Amino acid sequence: MSYQKELLEKLRSRQARVAVLGMGYVGLPLAVVFAEAGFTVTGIDPDTRKVKALNQGRSYIQDVPTEQVARLVTEGRLKATDDFSVLQEMDAISICVPTPLRKTGDPDMSFILSATEEIARYMHPGLVIVLESTTYPGTTREILLPSLSKGHQLKVGEDFFLAFSPERVDPGRKDWTTINTPKVMGGITPACSEVATVWYEQAIETIHTVSSAEAAELAKLLENTFRMINIGLVNEMAIMCQRLGVDVWEVIEAAATKPFGFMKFTPGPGLGGHCIPIDPLYLSWKMKTLNYNAKFIDLASEINTNMPRYVVRRLMDALNERDMHLKGSRVLVLGAAYKPDIDDLRESPALDVIGLLKEKGAVVSYHDPYVPSLRAHDGETMHSVEDLLAAVRQADAVVIVTNHSNYDYAAILEAARFIFDTRNALGDLGRDDPRVERL
Ligand SMILES: NC(=O)c1ccc[n+]([C@@H]2O[C@H](COP(=O)([O-])OP(=O)(O)OC[C@H]3O[C@@H](n4cnc5c(N)ncnc54)[C@H](O)[C@@H]3O)[C@@H](O)[C@H]2O)c1
Repeated sequence: MSYQKELLEKLRSRQARVAVLGMGYVGLPLAVVFAEAGFTVTGIDPDTRKVKALNQGRSYIQDVPTEQVARLVTEGRLKATDDFSVLQEMDAISICVPTPLRKTGDPDMSFILSATEEIARYMHPGLVIVLESTTYPGTTREILLPSLSKGHQLKVGEDFFLAFSPERVDPGRKDWTTINTPKVMGGITPACSEVATVWYEQAIETIHTVSSAEAAELAKLLENTFRMINIGLVNEMAIMCQRLGVDVWEVIEAAATKPFGFMKFTPGPGLGGHCIPIDPLYLSWKMKTLNYNAKFIDLASEINTNMPRYVVRRLMDALNERDMHLKGSRVLVLGAAYKPDIDDLRESPALDVIGLLKEKGAVVSYHDPYVPSLRAHDGETMHSVEDLLAAVRQADAVVIVTNHSNYDYAAILEAARFIFDTRNALGDLGRDDPRVERL
């Protein structure tokens, strides 16, 4: 029997042993979904704290309930290790390691490289490998394939199978999860696509298979570039509306009544999270190597990066109009996570806003029900204020940076002397209140 046939049988019967490399925001939910589908799953991560937590049946990811991890661990369907030698026993490996940017703004491929090198050490026939980490087009073929093909005679598409499938998880989201969000899959060869698709369709409802790994890599970059550019556009719209003396939120609501041809995006204090601010830069980096400037990406990135500075300038102007100045003023930042109702601080614009406020001499505190402490850009460890309403009362200005849904905005408005709302969290509250200003 060919390796392909044998592997397909193991995948269909869910006898295939599955490993997920990287047990973070992406890897843990994926491992849980494979385990729920009936596979025996091993999560591999060099972070021993995560390994220990999982083996004790504890989840550290908000979207994955601890009870579920505990049950899967007890049933022997999920375990974790930092020992990569288990890879020699695996039939199917998914790679979910980080792809950050270097300080220079270039892609940091070190995690992908080290994960691939570990797999290469334990290569054996009848193995399918799927890369999930967001990356530039060509990574699967140009980086993974040569590394996985070294030092043996195994042939891709015959003896082992390699594909790219972008992760689309939206942390905190309840309606679209790993199971029901359609998954794009693109293999190095048609056989690779087939094997990887059969594997994933055991656990995930819809697989959309494309003709190449590059098409799958680019599909993810198009999705996130689309978001980044539209957010850039609407942020610029906010800046233009302010100059024109028009309420941008009203304009957006009005435009959004069009049932076709318009998609609603909202402005804010800047881009955050691990994906939208970073992924498009992978594409623009790759295009620079081909002597092409990705102009939309550069422009949107410039506008979005400047938003925290714009917010602080607007706050300074607002205080000025109220015969106050930022230096020495007590400013309370509400919300530190990069988006509502989650605890993820990565790339959060709140950190930039706090940093800039401190630079200007404001006395800054923050509150976030999900983020008990944070490290500000100047190195100071800050703790979320304990008594929210007391802090609001004491503050000269409250800046709403993240519109968590469990805030009692009416109570906050009642207690506040002045609020600068960068997210329209107040909605109709305080519409004509001189103590309120919106982005
Ligand atoms: N978080 C999201 O919302 C999201 C959404 C879509 C795509 N992605 C992409 O998915 C990838 C993973 O992101 P994440 O948010 O899960 O990151 P994360 O930092 O939460 O988790 C990554 C994990 O990989 C581990 N790791 C590092 N090197 C490793 C190695 N050599 N072998 C095994 N494990 C290793 C880390 O210890 C960490 O636990 C990134 O490329 C990201 O762009 C993330």
